[in-house]
Amino acid sequence: MNQQQTNWKSNQYSEISGIQNKANLELLGQLPLKETDDVLDAGCGDGKLTFLVAKQIAKGSVLGIDSTPSMIRLCNEKLKENPVPASFLVMDLAEIDFESRFDLVFSNSVLHWVKKTDQALEGLYKSLKPGGSLGLQFPLLNVLHPFTATCEQTVRNLKLEKFFEDWEFPWYVPAPEEFKQIFSRYGFQETKVYVKSPAIDFGSSTKLFKSFDAAGLELYAQRLPDAMQERFKQEVFSEVEKMKENGRLMVRFERIYAFGYRKI
Ligand SMILES: C[S@@+](CC[C@H](N)C(=O)[O-])C[C@H]1O[C@@H](n2cnc3c(N)ncnc32)[C@H](O)[C@@H]1O
Repeated sequence: MNQQQTNWKSNQYSEISGIQNKANLELLGQLPLKETDDVLDAGCGDGKLTFLVAKQIAKGSVLGIDSTPSMIRLCNEKLKENPVPASFLVMDLAEIDFESRFDLVFSNSVLHWVKKTDQALEGLYKSLKPGGSLGLQFPLLNVLHPFTATCEQTVRNLKLEKFFEDWEFPWYVPAPEEFKQIFSRYGFQETKVYVKSPAIDFGSSTKLFKSFDAAGLELYAQRLPDAMQERFKQEVFSEVEKMKENGRLMVRFERIYAFGYRKI
């Protein structure tokens, strides 16, 4: 993971991640899940999707991996209360080393955090059994994304450009066409790659602000001297409030979806 690792706050993430449900279901709905499958959830977070999948595979099992130890701790606590055929490991997606082990691999909202995309995609491909399938989705944090657009506007509002002059943007943001080519390069067959950006009504400024926080607001704030970080966040919040129209807070997030099989 990149050097400027954000502190994933497992409890806060659980609170806001429900908002992303549509994207999750769009991904899961297209996976050819069978009840005997061995499944990998690559970047499982709080395990929301791992548990959902585990409940459907009485005769198989799901392994959830995540690079954040507190997420894996949370998953293991949930597992004690709610036993399902699942297990969890702290592991970096760019360093996975499974050989032909899974019938199905999915990764929801993770790849944008992985700068070593090549290693990650190669590892994911190898982890599939021949004929096994992979599905992933992640947000494109490009200039059109409300999170990035709002942070960039805030930098201009407060004249903070000098703190970002040599900043290496922490997220992986491929052009969709480029990602199609990268994805096929690793051998995935019958690939389907597309972008969707449905409008989501966040309802309250606080909810949208929390989703920005989970998207990596801290990484912007960390570029600034300590004394300015709170002011930066307040200004982001003011920008979020300006986005309200007739009491609604509709925003569009571009997300890329990719599906493919390992050659038999
Ligand atoms: C937005 S959350 C998504 C969690 C989960 N997949 C879901 O859909 O609810 C992103 C997760 O990716 C994890 N992550 C970030 N970089 C990672 C990496 N290099 N390897 C494994 N996990 C990573 C974070 O710890 C975090 O739990």
